[in-house]
Amino acid sequence: MTNKSTKSVYLETFGCQMNELDSELVAGSLGALGYQFTSQADQADIVLYNTCSVRERAEQKVWSRLGEMKVRKNNQPDLVVGVLGCMAERDGKDLIARMPVVDLMCGPAELDKLPELLDNAVRTKSSLAVNDPEIAIRRSAKQVALQGNASRRSSTLAAAGDSLESLDLGRMISPVDFDGRRSAYVRITRGCNKFCTYCVVPHTRGAEIHRPPQHIIDEIKALADTGIIEITLLGQTVNHYRFEHDSAVTLDGIVQPQKGRTYKGSHNRDAFAGANTTTFADLLYRIHEEVPQIKRLRFLTSYPRDFGDDVLQVIRDCPRICRFIHVPAQTGSNRMLKMMNRGHNIEEYDEFIGRCNEFLHQPEIGRPLMLGGDIIVGFPTETEEDHELTKQLLIRSRYKNCFIFKYSPRPGTVSYDKIPDDIPDAVKKRRNNELLMIQTDISDSIAQDQIGGEFDIFVEGLSRHEHKKRGTDVKPGSGMVGITIGGAEPQAQIAVLDAEIQGPTVQLSGRTDGDLIVFFDVPAVGLQSPNDYIGKIVRAKINAADKLTLAGELV
Ligand code: 5AD
Ligand code: SF4
Repeated sequence: MTNKSTKSVYLETFGCQMNELDSELVAGSLGALGYQFTSQADQADIVLYNTCSVRERAEQKVWSRLGEMKVRKNNQPDLVVGVLGCMAERDGKDLIARMPVVDLMCGPAELDKLPELLDNAVRTKSSLAVNDPEIAIRRSAKQVALQGNASRRSSTLAAAGDSLESLDLGRMISPVDFDGRRSAYVRITRGCNKFCTYCVVPHTRGAEIHRPPQHIIDEIKALADTGIIEITLLGQTVNHYRFEHDSAVTLDGIVQPQKGRTYKGSHNRDAFAGANTTTFADLLYRIHEEVPQIKRLRFLTSYPRDFGDDVLQVIRDCPRICRFIHVPAQTGSNRMLKMMNRGHNIEEYDEFIGRCNEFLHQPEIGRPLMLGGDIIVGFPTETEEDHELTKQLLIRSRYKNCFIFKYSPRPGTVSYDKIPDDIPDAVKKRRNNELLMIQTDISDSIAQDQIGGEFDIFVEGLSRHEHKKRGTDVKPGSGMVGITIGGAEPQAQIAVLDAEIQGPTVQLSGRTDGDLIVFFDVPAVGLQSPNDYIGKIVRAKINAADKLTLAGELV
């Protein structure tokens, strides 16, 4: 059992939304044990980094933070430094050997054990420091919880599932602590089974495990009760969600049809999904029907294969499911796709994008479909012809936004081990810039297309411009969890708004259901205070566009 703590924690998050969610859950469980959180690393008794290994740059940042901690430990021998997440899992014991400053390591699949590890680390550190600060700096009983190579053994998968589930189940949701957030992430799947040759995720996050639908729905209901109106479901290949129920047979031997299996006026294309399977389409439909307080339901990240019409029909027929699909292609070249072991070709990708547009692109009702993508440039052996094919893919797909990454060889992956990283950095850079230029033009043209249209806008807070004016800008990823999660800003910002309103209007910022950012002005003083808009959905007409941001006025 862990003791109640009075220690203060600085927790910094690197990488993806999955990590942001993990950090939030960790912060909740530590908070319940008495730990206080601070956004100032130099004031903390415990410094935790929740790390990302997807690209080398993210890891380098953590190495440099650890270097700073080494210096600090000379003055503060009982400081506890912990590395959580993918870097811990990937580097394992090598990390401690290279950086003895690290007292604690906890892989992403073991985060439910963090409170106990931390308690042990704090106690051994403090007792050492009292007796001999010198020893405390050099030594500590290292606290380590990693999945190691057990992660993919099927015999341990069920146990791993239970342990993983406990972190999400333990989410601290308390209406009393409501901090003004209206947006939250909810995990539906952990891990990945795809093994794209460049990617560390299947190695660090382990085998794919799907959460029971009832747990997901209960969690969303609890979040809705605190005032959350936007949920983003998370999974590495989110549309692969599929939960096999042990038994859907009732005591009298009758097989229960899955609730929500017949969607309004549509038929289910997934012939293999029996009555005791919850598919991704079933899950979306159930959430939409059972938690109507959720006004916006999103999901990240989609995998372009095995995406049936059943899902598209549910999205089309459910007004609160957003018209935004982030579906990475990674490259426009079939040769590259094969080397990447992506498991789909360009023809299948194009077919999918075509089908998405056919089902979901409805600008005439103010709901154009927006797509998002990821591209890797400079994968080994990529030629100018391959690169040209990727340019064509961008032009065809017309993403609202697309992340373009330079290939970064990651130890432990197939491409690192088997294929030399032979594209010079200067070439990667040039190709990256060329793709960025094409994408910027596309994003700009999509924004222009929205002028004159009317949209529902989920109001998130002050616009960046308004923040600047007031000197209240909050840097995303600036450390402490809770500053920005899911893009929403906490109540603290709204309080500032009350105290410092200047000028006749205040510029607010929000998003359309297709994830386009919209700025609009509201009167600073009037019937409705600018505060009252935040966290609500308003209707606005777009009258100008610049790159990805739209400017509108309330209607
Ligand atoms: N190098 C560069 N980009 C990568 N990604 C994943 N692994 C690598 C790598 N080794 C990108 C992919 C993925 C996104 C999350 O990160 O585009 O979709
Ligand atoms: Fe990595 Fe591929 Fe899995 Fe995405 S689908 S997490 S890129 S292995």
